[in-house]
Amino acid sequence: MAEQEITVCRLDELDDPGAREFEFDTGDGRDYGFVVRRDGEVHAYVNSCPHTGSALNWAPDRFLTKAGDQIMCGVHGAIFRIEDGHCLAGPCEGRDLNDLDCRVVEGEVRVRVA
Ligand code: FES
Repeated sequence: MAEQEITVCRLDELDDPGAREFEFDTGDGRDYGFVVRRDGEVHAYVNSCPHTGSALNWAPDRFLTKAGDQIMCGVHGAIFRIEDGHCLAGPCEGRDLNDLDCRVVEGEVRVRVA
């Protein structure tokens, strides 16, 4: 499918730290991603844990640890760095989330999906 850029939300709608799930068209179905903001930076990943492929969030838009400093999979508790999606602990330690290009343009959080 052709590459597309979608607007997930306005930056000021995203807590710091905070995360927001979004849905996108893959050309032959739908998939899910999420954006995560921390210390003023925004990152985006496909919402699929490297352990089993499950969605990471344990409730709508809840992707982070209580301290808000790491991404945590709600299924078996794997911990990922926010900055690069690298798994630091848990059953998929050493693996990475699939990252997506993300940028902030005119106050909007935009993600390139393909
Ligand atoms: S599905 Fe994420 S840690 Fe098992």
